[in-house]
Amino acid sequence: MFEKRDYIAVFDSGVGGVSVLRELMKLMPQERYLYFGDSANAPYGTRPTSEVRSLTLAAAEKLMARRCKALVVACNTATAAAIKELREVYPDKIIIGIEPALKVAADHFPGKEVGVMATPVTLREEKFDILLHRFTDVCSVHKIPAPGLVELVERGKAESEETEALLAPLLAPYRDRLAAIVLGCTHYPFAAPVIQRLVGKNTALLDGGPGTARQTRRRLQAEGLLWNGPGELLIENSAGSDEMIALCQKLLRG
Ligand code: DGL
Repeated sequence: MFEKRDYIAVFDSGVGGVSVLRELMKLMPQERYLYFGDSANAPYGTRPTSEVRSLTLAAAEKLMARRCKALVVACNTATAAAIKELREVYPDKIIIGIEPALKVAADHFPGKEVGVMATPVTLREEKFDILLHRFTDVCSVHKIPAPGLVELVERGKAESEETEALLAPLLAPYRDRLAAIVLGCTHYPFAAPVIQRLVGKNTALLDGGPGTARQTRRRLQAEGLLWNGPGELLIENSAGSDEMIALCQKLLRG
């Protein structure tokens, strides 16, 4: 039904999912990727859950109409709000959703204090509560919502003074205190240098992108759907401007 050469579709509310795309491309450079960012509707993370769900299902419908063998939901917010529905609507498709890398934090830093930076939607959804309760006996977890950060990354200002000014008061209570911060939103890895400066060099920053890429490869391999090239990348964005595509390419290059 699916062919090896079909696309791996990668979806995010905007440019953040590029932090997952770059891990996928590092691990599987020979694959064909179709990246879609819904920047016209970003941010998702401060919307009602029902809206995030509808936007995610609408984006998935468009992507599924193309030839794709897997969908990577490279957005913690969309995963929290809609992964269950996506799997119900597309039971035959490989659907991988990113979620905050709390397990990695618990495995590496048992007994320590860790933070999870994510959008308000991700932090309030039941899916996150379930994840949290698996690890509350292992480490003590601080929820750190960071409203406003996604917007700055969408404007190409991930490493700017504005980002520093937004995050400084938010992270001040955690300076030199946490063993790790889980970057639970795919936009945040692009602001990692600023976050690192503010929390201190001894705090590990954990990104779920590499684990999501490995999980995608495992699933494709299990289904005999790995493609051997030539690789390809198509980037599309609902904002309809060349600017957002150029920003994705810039973030991808690092
Ligand atoms: N990049 C998305 C995530 O991983 C959220 C961005 C948004 O709020 O739109 O949660």
